[in-house]
Amino acid sequence: RLDKTLCWDGELTVTRHDRETGTSFIIRLDSTRLGPAAGGTRAAQYASFGEALDDAGRLAGAMTLKMAVSNLPMGGGKSVIALPAPRNEIDQGTWKRILVLHAENIDKLGGNYWTGPDVNTNSSDMDLLNDTTEFVFGRSTARGGAGSSASNTSLGVFEAMKATALHRGLGTLDGLTVLVQGLGAVGSGLAVLASQAGARLLVSDTDSERLAWARQAGHDVVEIDNVRSTPCDIFAPCAMGGVIDSAVAGELPASAVVGAANNILADDEAGDILHQRGVTYAPDFVTNAGGAFHLVGREVLGWSEETVGARTRRIGDTLAEVYSIAESEDIDTDRAARILARRRIETAGTHPPHT
Ligand code: NAI
Ligand code: PHE
Repeated sequence: RLDKTLCWDGELTVTRHDRETGTSFIIRLDSTRLGPAAGGTRAAQYASFGEALDDAGRLAGAMTLKMAVSNLPMGGGKSVIALPAPRNEIDQGTWKRILVLHAENIDKLGGNYWTGPDVNTNSSDMDLLNDTTEFVFGRSTARGGAGSSASNTSLGVFEAMKATALHRGLGTLDGLTVLVQGLGAVGSGLAVLASQAGARLLVSDTDSERLAWARQAGHDVVEIDNVRSTPCDIFAPCAMGGVIDSAVAGELPASAVVGAANNILADDEAGDILHQRGVTYAPDFVTNAGGAFHLVGREVLGWSEETVGARTRRIGDTLAEVYSIAESEDIDTDRAARILARRRIETAGTHPPHT
C-alpha cells in the first residue's frame, strides 16, 4: 500500500515521526504551479500511516483544484497530523509539543507551503504555529490574522445550494427539504442560512450538544446511520469526506448534493452514477471555496470583507460554468469541474518558487 501511496503525481511528500507522543506528521504538496501550495492542517486518528498519507494526498489535490477553479494565486497542499488518540483525549502539553513540531516542519519548507485551519485545528492553534513559523493563514484577528474561515465557507455553500437548486429545476430553497450532515462550524451556519431561506432542515451529528441546538432551532434530527437513506431534496455533507461511494450513489434518495466536506465522493464511479441517475452533484472543491476566499483574499490579496463576500457569492456563477461543461460534453459534474480547473492551471504561467 505504501508503495502505491507514495507513487503519486504530486510534487513533494514530507513526513516525520515523534516517538515521545506517538504522532506522525505528513505534509504533501500537490502543486505549486499557480503559487505556493496552501491547505489546512487536519488532526485526526488514522488506522494506518498509509491511510493518513493517502488522505493528505487526496486533500492536497483537492486544494490545487479549489485554488485553480476559484482563480486564486495559490497551489495545493495539505498537512495531516496522525494523532495517537482522539483529539479530545490529548492534553494541552502534548498538543502544544505536536504543534511546535508541525510548525518546524512547515518552516523548513521555506514558504513553498502555507497552512491554515482544518478539521480539529482552529485560529488559536494557528497562533501557536505562528510562534515558530510565518507561513500560517487564519491566525486570530488579535494576532493580525483573518480568523476563522467557517462563516464564509457556509455562505459559499449556501450560494452553491441556491444555484444548484435552480439548475436542477427545484426553484428557490423555500419549501425544499435540506439534510445537513455535520452541524459544526460550517454546517451550523449553513443550516441557519438555508432555514432563513425557507428550507425545512433535517440534521445529523455525533455530538449531542449540537443536536440539542438543532432541536431548539426547530430542525428534525436524523439518526447517523439513516442519513444516506433519508429522502430529501438536497443532501449537504458537512462532516467528513468519503460519504458517497458507488453503492450510495446508486441509491441516494436526493435530487442534489451540495456540501462543505472535502472529497465527498469516495471513488471515481460515484460521480458518474449520480450523473446517470439525474442527481446533481455540486463539486466540493468549487462549493467550499469560501474558506480559501476568506484566508487568501484577506491575507494575501488584501481584500476587504466586502470583496471576500462578493467573490464568494460568485461561486454560483462558477457552478453554472461547470454545469454547462457537464451538459455540453455529457460528463459528470466532478469531471467537468476538473476540466475547468485544469484549463486555468494550463493557461497560467509556471510560478517561480519562493516568490
Ligand atoms: P467541524 O469540526 O466544526 O464540524 C464537523 C461536524 O461534523 C462536528 O459537529 C462533528 O461532530 C460532526 N460529525 C463528525 N462525524 C460525523 C458523522 N459521522 N455524522 C454526522 N456528523 C458528524 O468542521 P467544519 O469546519 O465545520 O468543517 C466541516 C467540513 O467542511 C470538513 O470536512 C472540512 O474539511 C470542510 N471545509 C471546511 C472549511 C472551513 O472553512 N471550516 C472550508 C472548506 C471545507
Ligand atoms: N481547510 C479549509 C479548506 O479546505 C480552509 C483553508 C483554505 C485552509 C486555504 C488553508 C488554506 O478549504
